[in-house]
Amino acid sequence: MEKVIIFDTTLRDGEQSAGAALNIDEKLEIAGQLEKLKVDVIEAGFPIASPGDLKAVRRISQEVRGPTICALAYAQPKAVDAAWEAVKQARHPRIHVFLSSSEVHMAHQLRKNRSQILKLSRDMVARAKGYLEDVEFSPMDATRTDPVFLYKIIEAAIQAGATTINIPDTVGYTIPREFCALLDGIFKNVPNINEAVVSVHCHNDLGLAAANSLAALDCGARQIECTINGIGERAGNASLEEIVMALRTRKDLFNYRTDIDTTQIHKASRLVSDITGMYVQPNKAIVGVNAFRHESGIHQDGVLKERTTYEIMDPRDVGLTGSTLTLGKLSGRHAFKVRLQELGYALTDEELSRAFAAFKELADKKREITDRDLEALVAEELRTVSETYHLEQVQVSCGDHSVPTASVRLVGPDGTAIADAALGAGPVDAIYKAINRLVGVPNELIEFSVKSVTEGIDAIGEVTIRIQSGGKIYTGRGAATDIIVASAKAYMNALNRLLAAMEKA
Ligand code: KIV
Ligand code: ZN
Repeated sequence: MEKVIIFDTTLRDGEQSAGAALNIDEKLEIAGQLEKLKVDVIEAGFPIASPGDLKAVRRISQEVRGPTICALAYAQPKAVDAAWEAVKQARHPRIHVFLSSSEVHMAHQLRKNRSQILKLSRDMVARAKGYLEDVEFSPMDATRTDPVFLYKIIEAAIQAGATTINIPDTVGYTIPREFCALLDGIFKNVPNINEAVVSVHCHNDLGLAAANSLAALDCGARQIECTINGIGERAGNASLEEIVMALRTRKDLFNYRTDIDTTQIHKASRLVSDITGMYVQPNKAIVGVNAFRHESGIHQDGVLKERTTYEIMDPRDVGLTGSTLTLGKLSGRHAFKVRLQELGYALTDEELSRAFAAFKELADKKREITDRDLEALVAEELRTVSETYHLEQVQVSCGDHSVPTASVRLVGPDGTAIADAALGAGPVDAIYKAINRLVGVPNELIEFSVKSVTEGIDAIGEVTIRIQSGGKIYTGRGAATDIIVASAKAYMNALNRLLAAMEKA
């Protein structure tokens, strides 16, 4: 079986999803999980885009030693130099240079002609090659590019030293048949194409990203660029879990393998969803909550008699434990630690103590604590560390005959407690107004959603919100058995991200 290189761009294209901006610690945590998943390449960021992104890529390069660490650069010297600055300490560094090649992009966005584009591609690949061996080049919007010009630009990039040529379907426009014909044309018409690995990068605007990526394998591609949960610009990128599980489940048809440890898929999906605040739709292939649920009597009957009657994949292969074991208020620290280890969490003693204290608090409110509760709890506890303002207390009074009133106490950056109160249209509005009076950063709430982590009246409620400030969107997440408290935590989480971004800027 031939190996397919899995190039994960969750931290770069995935981060381009509206509202999914990540801080350095969050990027590092996701990169650690991608390493456990055994992806071959992590595209860790776009260093020229912001000093924060450069720092994040540098930290990942220093600390994540298994996969190749790649940095994206547009075709300008300062972008290539920033990419090198960010990845030069990686064990296996890569620079990915991109430049648009379609008429519409060249004429309207870049305002450059073909010969200028050709020269820039050649020069910037050569500049990257001056720094390192592993250079990837993408003619952006390749699927809407004149194929004859595409052949020329690819040939020039390989001559200048590109070792991977990526063919992006930037706007998710192509269909499998057409994409294959384009790749066939490239293999036939680019004389030096065998000196590079051909990669594909498909967007999902027509829902065809995974299908186009898989079709490309039979037409010579050997690297697929994809993201966890398919997140990414607009409708997203090809989703890693769909591609990997399609190759594995239909190995009778695909003669390709990946090195992915599929048992890490579920954990990676949860982590990315928790950190970015981008929910996975329930019916999402492989990682949606319904992906392995059977509702109709006939299906349930079949699965009970023989799992494969209605299941083409074993849920354990994607890391679903199927465990019905629950913990409760009598469970001790040891049982708690062991269960977390089984779920793949390796906590330090200090983190474990914090998480255990939160577990005991939760166990007082909720009779049975499931794996899903534990995942929410660990996420909540471990990700509240880099805060400018900490929510210490929140109290509301509301009802159908009273004006919703909230009082809030925060601990500020200098460690002093500050408090205020406000009235609002509802309890959440009142809390947000009180918090805003204390923090004093203009922002607009543009999205608010609440869902329960598990079934039952005592379930943990997870609140995800998005706020907008200075043209940028920030996501916040909070979880608690009390959804009012979860709402306050989510708002603080979003505000702390906004404050961190302001500080960076
Ligand atoms: O979609 C795209 O074309 C990209 C490039 C930078 C590869 O993300
Ligand atoms: Zn893209």
